[in-house]
Amino acid sequence: MKFKPLKIRNLEAKYPVIQAGMGVRVGNATLAAEVVNCGGYGTIASVGFGRIETSMSKYVGEVCDYLAREIREAKQLCENKQPLGVNIMVALSTYKEFVEVCVKEKVDFIISGAGLPLPLPEYVGDADIALIPVVSGGRALEVILRCWLRKYNRKPDAIIVEGPNCGGHLGFAMEQLDDPDSCSLEVLLKECREVMGKYNVDCPVIAAGEISSREHIEEMFKLGYDGVQIGTYFITAEESGIDRKSKEVFVNATNDDVVIIKSPVGLPVRVLNTPLVQRVLAGSREEFKCPYRCLRTCNPAKVPFCIAKALLSTWSGDVDNGLYMTGCDVECVKEIYPVKQFFDTLD
Ligand SMILES: Cc1cc2nc3c(=O)[nH]c(=O)nc-3n(C[C@H](O)[C@H](O)[C@H](O)COP(=O)(O)O)c2cc1C
Repeated sequence: MKFKPLKIRNLEAKYPVIQAGMGVRVGNATLAAEVVNCGGYGTIASVGFGRIETSMSKYVGEVCDYLAREIREAKQLCENKQPLGVNIMVALSTYKEFVEVCVKEKVDFIISGAGLPLPLPEYVGDADIALIPVVSGGRALEVILRCWLRKYNRKPDAIIVEGPNCGGHLGFAMEQLDDPDSCSLEVLLKECREVMGKYNVDCPVIAAGEISSREHIEEMFKLGYDGVQIGTYFITAEESGIDRKSKEVFVNATNDDVVIIKSPVGLPVRVLNTPLVQRVLAGSREEFKCPYRCLRTCNPAKVPFCIAKALLSTWSGDVDNGLYMTGCDVECVKEIYPVKQFFDTLD
């Protein structure tokens, strides 16, 4: 199968591949820019930039400045090529401010999930930015479409459908995750197409979850998707932002090491069963202070660990204290490799 370029709003990439926004600092400027250079959609994850521990009184300014710098660095690295965008989780307390940074820095697209991105069109205003909500089925999509059309007369420019086998936070109840066939990418696509028909929305629909090869992309096209978003497979790219020791944790993991725990974000999260997770599952509570409240949905007095601190530990290669978010198929990751090597398989 010869892949066609993926067009979203006025953007176009040679390959139908969006690199997933992956925090903390996995999907940084270097990874996103290299994906753009190779012909995909490059995505910076907005969560977790800045010296959050040392800037307690200036948290919002600090993280916004860092995000702006990261966007500028990525633009420099890909020589202002497109499409370069940002992933912003709705659960972040700085959601609005991060959207404003994206508008100011003129990113090409915003991907937004981990909650319903209902006010996104309002925060973006007239800026020429493609808006791409992430949904886990027809119900969430319908809520977004109804709100966006009624309040802002705006439709999404593409829709990402995250299936039950995705990495990171999951928009499904535990019972659904125990029966993934009930919410497979095929089932979810049917639901979403029905809702799109009802609201007269015609835009690319992108599949996410357990996609890591040309064959998987072809399967998604056969199901009726227009493109794919890939997360886990890009974690161990040479260009991804985390320490090599952490990349090796992923390379050495097997699918039996993958578990789901309840995240401080308030959603189930799929992770590797590393020492931090073993401690949390055994009922222990990690010591931490939280002066900055990065998540609207987190209650620091109640959660067993600080997810920002844990993900920063992954970034710095502190394996004992890191949280290793992953998709079901961590075995797709076999080596530390240059991003170009993957895109060369798509010609
Ligand atoms: C390490 C990691 C970090 C992630 N961080 C984010 C994030 O910051 N925001 C978000 O919306 N999704 C995040 N996700 C979910 C991805 O965007 C993506 O949808 C998912 O990884 C796709 O499934 P796959 O990993 O099986 O390819 C993350 C996933 C992983 C594995």
